[in-house]
Amino acid sequence: MPRIPFIAGNWKMNTLKASAIELAKAVAQGSPRSGVEVGVAPPFVYLDAVAQALAGSPVLLGAQDAFYEKSGAFTGEISVDMLKDVGVKFVLTGHSERRHVLHESPELVGKKAAAVYNGGLILVHCVGEKLDERDGNKTLAVVEAQLKELNPQSIADPARLVIAYEPVWAIGTGRNATDAQAQEVHAFIRQTLGKMWNPDFAGRVRIQYGGSMKPENAKGLLDQPDVDGGLIGGAALKAESFLAIVNAAK
Ligand code: 13P
Repeated sequence: MPRIPFIAGNWKMNTLKASAIELAKAVAQGSPRSGVEVGVAPPFVYLDAVAQALAGSPVLLGAQDAFYEKSGAFTGEISVDMLKDVGVKFVLTGHSERRHVLHESPELVGKKAAAVYNGGLILVHCVGEKLDERDGNKTLAVVEAQLKELNPQSIADPARLVIAYEPVWAIGTGRNATDAQAQEVHAFIRQTLGKMWNPDFAGRVRIQYGGSMKPENAKGLLDQPDVDGGLIGGAALKAESFLAIVNAAK
């Protein structure tokens, strides 16, 4: 059963209000209505403005993070209900910058992932090894442990689970994984999901590649049988390069 590719832009801590709206409008205008799913994840403070800029388009609004509690005394945090309230459809968990720059533990990442899925949103769970882990032949073990932050008992709908494989050494470095390196890990991810759930479920989950994906390398990566889209950082900050990747996925 074919998986519709999903290309999402993670804007990270970039844009200001006017540039966020401008970028969102250009992405909305240039995105095809079928054949590929497109999403953008702006900074929290611009979600509402970007939601308005995307109105009437098929582009999905995403958030870069969410806290796992529903409400209460959690200064600075944002709940899943708040995100839904402003039109968010997907949320990233376990992004490498949250793991390694903000020091989120596997336990915290797992709690956030559960809250996003249980809240009814699309969960984009990010996994990926650091350079020393790749060099030490630990890539598959690291990725497997990060997948096991998810609870198969509570996640039943494969359409609301997306895995983003983002090798940390490829993020923002200009050095992407080769097509074969990506395919190897993506196939392993699908195999692991098959063991955690079952092969049918695993066959329906989309697995995005992230890490210096750009118009010049997108086609080769997206042509791999287990690469079902991309999570784009730098190249998502310009509508032209982001839409070129979207069109490569179509
Ligand atoms: P770059 O595309 O800038 O390497 O970032 C990838 C990423 O981290 C997306 O979440």
